[in-house]
Amino acid sequence: MSTNPGSSSTASSAIGASANVAARARALVGEITTLRRDLHAHPELRFEEERTGAAIARELEAAGLEVRRGVAKTGVVGLLRGARPGPTVALRADMDALPLTEETGLPYASTHPGRMHACGHDGHVAMLVGTARVLAGMRGELSGSVKFFFQPAEEGGHGGLRMCEAGVLEDPRVDAIFALHDWPFLPVGDIGIRYGPMMAATDSFAIEVLGQGGHAAYPHKVVDPILLACRIVEGLQSIVSREVNPVDAVVVTVGKLHAGTAVNIIPNFARMEGTVRSMSVAGRESALAAVARIAEGTATAHRGRVKVEITPGYPPTVNHDAACDLVRAAAEEVVGAARVSILGEPSMGGEDFSYYLQRVPGAMFRLGIARGAVEAEPALHTTTFNFNDDAIEVGIRTLAGTALRFLEAGLPGGKGDR
Ligand code: NI
Repeated sequence: MSTNPGSSSTASSAIGASANVAARARALVGEITTLRRDLHAHPELRFEEERTGAAIARELEAAGLEVRRGVAKTGVVGLLRGARPGPTVALRADMDALPLTEETGLPYASTHPGRMHACGHDGHVAMLVGTARVLAGMRGELSGSVKFFFQPAEEGGHGGLRMCEAGVLEDPRVDAIFALHDWPFLPVGDIGIRYGPMMAATDSFAIEVLGQGGHAAYPHKVVDPILLACRIVEGLQSIVSREVNPVDAVVVTVGKLHAGTAVNIIPNFARMEGTVRSMSVAGRESALAAVARIAEGTATAHRGRVKVEITPGYPPTVNHDAACDLVRAAAEEVVGAARVSILGEPSMGGEDFSYYLQRVPGAMFRLGIARGAVEAEPALHTTTFNFNDDAIEVGIRTLAGTALRFLEAGLPGGKGDR
């Protein structure tokens, strides 16, 4: 990786391409750091990423990409066509910030109270811009196309779904997709990969329990929604223990339960709300179906009625094995095998990269950003979080290397297997 880094004379070999990527990425780190900090100072909430999108579009146009703006409201898509025909690979970053007031005291801290890049999406955007610039400089060596997705509204806005519905996976059709997420639980310089389920589905439910109220001293003349609600809460706890495969992680939590106004009145209704977290399509479907069935059956048994409302969250994020193999090979080339870890446990958080993975093979990997001990690193979604610019070079090189490997040889073993 040290010979002749700026030359394209060794472009036909993977080693030559990798040295080329490394040199180009290193040359950009200063500018990409500046961009990242500018984005950090000007965070925008979901579907409001106008300034962010404009900055991205300017960069991509300057690099010679074909650019579409206003995709899924505020998203930006860049298309880099290689010199020779071939497959199409997509790389994705999310652009939105969170409704938090920053408390880092950084010189480039958020200039907007109540808005903060507390999940590192500023870093994701900056690194993907850097990756686009690196690969644009190697256009003559590419067989195929690279699409760069900058999506709005990852934080609860289903921006990934809106991008898919806007047709970003077509014209040219995307054959594989990759993304990274910064990860404070891994040291900077490390990369984490998880085969299979990586993040949970995040659905929620509300159950309105309808009884028939009356005097507390004449329970035989009423239908008590409080007793009914308690039976339903209890019944819901049998979903995980008796309806879902025990090796398939599911959580059912009732987080809100409200009823009644006075000690001597049986109320007319009760209301509960909760969340269902699941890791597989099967676990998700059976848990959500059971919520409705148990609520309705329990209500009927006690002469009451229920109205069940399920609000779909993100699907589970499930990486494809062959895509993980490819990321792993690309990452090992950048940081060495010792610094690539295969993560044992998924996270019960959610991620809307799941929508792309439902449609095309691909994988999301974790980019380490911890500055020292991982226990001391501020967590994602907190007011003291800050992306680590020391991870920029590794992020760009791994994304670019992944795309190059895919264009060169496709996914190991042919197609994704999920
Ligand atoms: Ni995030």
